[in-house]
Amino acid sequence: MLSESFIQQLKQYSDIEHIVSGYVQLKKKGRYLSGLCPFHSEKSPSFFVYPQTQSFYCFGCGAGGDVITFIRQIENLEYMEAVRFLADRCGMTVPQDSEDDGRARLKKRVLEINRETARYFHDCLMSEQGKDAYAYLIRRGRDRKTIRHFGLGYAPDSWHGLVEHLRTKGFSEKEMIEANVAVQSQKGGAYDRFRNRVMFPIIDVRGNVIAFGGRALDDKGAKYLNSSDTIVFKKSKNLFALNFAKTSKLPGLILAEGYMDVIAIHQAGFDNAVATLGTSLTEEQARLISQYADKVVLAYDSDGPGQAATKRALNIFDEVGVKVTVLSMTGAKDPDEYIQKYGRERFAMLIDGSRNAIEFELSRLRNNHDVQTADGKVNFLKEACKLFAGIRNPVEREVYITQVANELEISPQAIKAQIQSLDKREQSRQRRQQKADTNIYIGRMAAAKNDVSRQVNLRYAMAEEGILYCLMKNPDFYQTVREKIAPEDFVTEVNRELYTAMVKRLESGQPIEMLDLSSELSPQAMGRVSAILATAPVQRCDLAELDDYIQRLSEHRNVKTEKEVAQMDDDALEAYVKQLAAKKNRRS
Ligand code: GTP
Ligand code: MN
Repeated sequence: MLSESFIQQLKQYSDIEHIVSGYVQLKKKGRYLSGLCPFHSEKSPSFFVYPQTQSFYCFGCGAGGDVITFIRQIENLEYMEAVRFLADRCGMTVPQDSEDDGRARLKKRVLEINRETARYFHDCLMSEQGKDAYAYLIRRGRDRKTIRHFGLGYAPDSWHGLVEHLRTKGFSEKEMIEANVAVQSQKGGAYDRFRNRVMFPIIDVRGNVIAFGGRALDDKGAKYLNSSDTIVFKKSKNLFALNFAKTSKLPGLILAEGYMDVIAIHQAGFDNAVATLGTSLTEEQARLISQYADKVVLAYDSDGPGQAATKRALNIFDEVGVKVTVLSMTGAKDPDEYIQKYGRERFAMLIDGSRNAIEFELSRLRNNHDVQTADGKVNFLKEACKLFAGIRNPVEREVYITQVANELEISPQAIKAQIQSLDKREQSRQRRQQKADTNIYIGRMAAAKNDVSRQVNLRYAMAEEGILYCLMKNPDFYQTVREKIAPEDFVTEVNRELYTAMVKRLESGQPIEMLDLSSELSPQAMGRVSAILATAPVQRCDLAELDDYIQRLSEHRNVKTEKEVAQMDDDALEAYVKQLAAKKNRRS
């Protein structure tokens, strides 16, 4: 077995665009390149190379995969031969008997560096050189206990303070750069990445220091500087202060925008606050949150960008099934400022009075339209009806309709009529969309048309591909799939091969970058991976959709083979026919 890090490096040095260009004349088209497929004969190009994912895919014949798959197919080599071929090209030596040990060791070293760095920053903050930074935190209302609790620190205004310190502790510059606490200089040395900043260590739920955020004390550079992704840190998958919030006794979580907000909220006694790490909320973070809480209070800034981010977050939480209410702050721009200004009791009241998504939208609409004028009233109503049309629970709908009807002094029937026509329009829009999506889907999968078993079982194959796609996007959906679907349930062979490979990795807790599986998968299966990924624009992968796929695939279990039908006695046959008829009725 070759180590993952070796393969990663090999791929990094074997840029797919560069390698493929040796065989195919490629033309750049935006974010991808295209050319005539070298694996089947064609006159117009349906062969695509995607530098971003380092993959290729032919919409004509279904060949696809990573750079290793490409070399295997074009040079007609076995997997290891293809690896050697590429290694030779870029001057790497294929290790004799390497393991993943190297990567595990590096991770451990990086975590040790992070811990030592956090300690160093904290000591600096508490010493003479950190006195301005310390005073800054005190001035902003943080107390000594909070500073200790969060392990806040100070990165001195120096180019080599940390680097020198870590060197005396036995760490190499290469390791410091790997941990992203130091940066490679032009001359080849390393210098401190964070300088003259208040430092916030980011700690994961296991208690590891995985990264840092740093706030500037002067006007040099960005206000906040965060660690880039490293071997131990992915900013899209972590949250600040979740290490504390996960054991909070308070119900749900509070999600704020910034480090300073979270710390202020904790200090005010709400130890269930978390924040994203200098980016807007990702689906992964929302799913992480859903593991710890079934409801969230959004405490974003009250300014324009904060409100836009709130809207975005509402949608994301809706997808993952977390209930959300929104804090409505007036008189302060963020929770930090609010607490400084009005105190913790009023903040507690704010949380109690936080409103759900519909109310949040309604109050936004009220602000945007002057309902004293006839024009404003009409426009407000139009928008409100659109909003209500999205409410599926009839009781909830009724409540809001009545409320708005009273408010505007019009009849609830008028509102309902308006919503009904929107409902109808929406339904036919959805039907049209679905048809268009299916056409695109079929186009993207056209290359699989030679797979007879897939064509015969198209209904099930599409469900299988849906499940595979969902899992590639959301590996944590695996728990749900696993309970209901076994590899044997997969009807078509290639999809079953993919699912089996996926299961193997998921069961052992490894990440599933399917495009990295070229050592385990046949070139045909790699092609299918690329095909499924290419259907992305028309794939949805929320839990409801996943349930549909699972349902559809489970139906197949009840379909009997010709031979089984021939062997049934009369009663069994009658029952089977009834069951089929019932299913048919349900479907039409
Ligand atoms: P203070 O000004 O110290 O109160 O910080 P804040 O948390 O209120 O800052 P702000 O509302 O401007 O930003 C919220 C969060 O966005 C911060 O905590 C950072 O995570 C992130 N952020 C803000 N400015 C920057 C920046 O310049 N670069 C990056 N990468 N992130 C930033
Ligand atoms: Mn602030």
